[in-house]
Amino acid sequence: MNRLSFKTAKFITSALKTKELPEEDFPEIAIVGRSNVGKSSLINHLLKNKYTAKTSSTPGKTQRINFFLIDQKLFLVDLPGYGYAKTSKTIQEDWGLWIGKYLETRPLKLILFLLDIRRTLSSQDIQFLEWVKYQKIRTIVVFTKKDKLNHKEFNNRMKSINSDPLLNKTAFQLYSVKDGQCRQELIGAINNIIWD
Ligand code: GTP
Ligand code: MG
Repeated sequence: MNRLSFKTAKFITSALKTKELPEEDFPEIAIVGRSNVGKSSLINHLLKNKYTAKTSSTPGKTQRINFFLIDQKLFLVDLPGYGYAKTSKTIQEDWGLWIGKYLETRPLKLILFLLDIRRTLSSQDIQFLEWVKYQKIRTIVVFTKKDKLNHKEFNNRMKSINSDPLLNKTAFQLYSVKDGQCRQELIGAINNIIWD
């Protein structure tokens, strides 16, 4: 049985240039999204904090591409976030080039594209969603920080998400690092996609 259970995790490497990317041939899942959306937190939650990806309330914490080997059969990849306004323009451009190069050269099985459920899409979010559609890369949109909305706010957000033409045709999952059920559902959705 191939299914991933996210039982074991091993930190492999933290890459800052192409030469540093791992050469092993494992299927790969990349976690993408703007700074502070909750990428590293989601990884920690999926892995039940066995390996701790650095999280921070200060955006821009993860600057390298971090590889974790999951259950000895798949790479889970934590990417630097985009769109952090206080980062210098040169660094932002370098990140863009670096992430772009990574995304275009690796054999990605799946992208988890994270969006903060409270926020409307930024121009970079839209650009990215259009890019994955064009590249035909399998993508799950993960709406993070669900616990920060009350029932009414949640219903309103779901209404606008369901009427957004870019979002309403993409597979999505709701997520909160405070909710074990979300974790199980996301693991199920990942397994359904990567082994077919
Ligand atoms: P960069 O590495 O800067 O790109 O950020 P990131 O996307 O990795 O975000 P990170 O995981 O560091 O989380 C940013 C902040 O959001 C931290 O303070 C987390 O504790 C918080 N956070 C992440 N997920 C959740 C969630 O589901 N619920 C709540 N309440 N807070 C969350
Ligand atoms: Mg991070």
